[in-house]
Amino acid sequence: MDNEQFNQHLNEMVTMASGIEGHLTVREIRFLATLPFLTGEGEILEIGSFMGRSTTILAKSAIRAMRARIHACDPLLPSDTVPKFTSDEKLPDLFHRHIRQHDVAGIVEFHQVKSSELAKSWNLPLRILWIDGDHSYKGAMVDFEGFQEYLKPGAVVCIHDVIHEFEGPTRVLIEKILLSASFGDCGICGSIGWGQYIGDRAPTGKQWSEKISLSRKLSRLVPHLVSVANGLPSNRLRYKIDRARIPHSEPNLFRWLEERIRATIGNR
Ligand SMILES: C[S@@+](CC[C@H](N)C(=O)[O-])C[C@H]1O[C@@H](n2cnc3c(N)ncnc32)[C@H](O)[C@@H]1O
Repeated sequence: MDNEQFNQHLNEMVTMASGIEGHLTVREIRFLATLPFLTGEGEILEIGSFMGRSTTILAKSAIRAMRARIHACDPLLPSDTVPKFTSDEKLPDLFHRHIRQHDVAGIVEFHQVKSSELAKSWNLPLRILWIDGDHSYKGAMVDFEGFQEYLKPGAVVCIHDVIHEFEGPTRVLIEKILLSASFGDCGICGSIGWGQYIGDRAPTGKQWSEKISLSRKLSRLVPHLVSVANGLPSNRLRYKIDRARIPHSEPNLFRWLEERIRATIGNR
């Protein structure tokens, strides 16, 4: 696959995803569709599948990247962590219908349980950990901590909604990824915060200063997010101004991903 075909694949993923209800933007879809092409040992695990939008994107890309399977985890039960939807169909039926309709059911290993339950029996190395489940602080922390020991050096952790009004994703990105010396390159694409796990290798000075700079900007949102989560008053205008100052565009991320992909993509 050359770069043009690769770009075409990302565009196809955007078109395909528009047929499944969900909250991913175009740049987020392109970002997710890129991830399975990252090479190296380990599984792809999604936490929070809803109707299968990101599941299908990851699975379709995994097929193009010649990966054997992806894992997806979601109890798919009515709860306040499930986005509102209008369909009369039940959520599990919608999820399974969508993955069948897009011919990926065969490579999606679905775990219909909470992430904390799956973590109890999980024992596989991870290459991609995509967190889009319970957005509370406790919930997002459980998702990260339940699986962090399985990250292989080079693995990428991605968390959705880091610049939306949810406490968990933002704080976990700051506390566990940006302020951790075990993560190197990091960034935000749309509202997906991501970081590359580097294990015992220290981040470079440039990586560290970029991580600190991003964590400073993101930290300004935290008092507002904690206030909202606890039903306390907060200055929404201040939050919006601080949020607008957070870099979250696509180009740097894609350059980063492409550099790592280009070396191997010709062989696929
Ligand atoms: C924002 S939606 C996920 C959206 C999905 N990634 C997409 O692309 O459309 C959040 C989902 O997380 C699931 N969820 C909530 N708590 C969870 C948990 N502890 N473990 C796994 N999934 C959870 C909910 O059932 C819900 O379907």
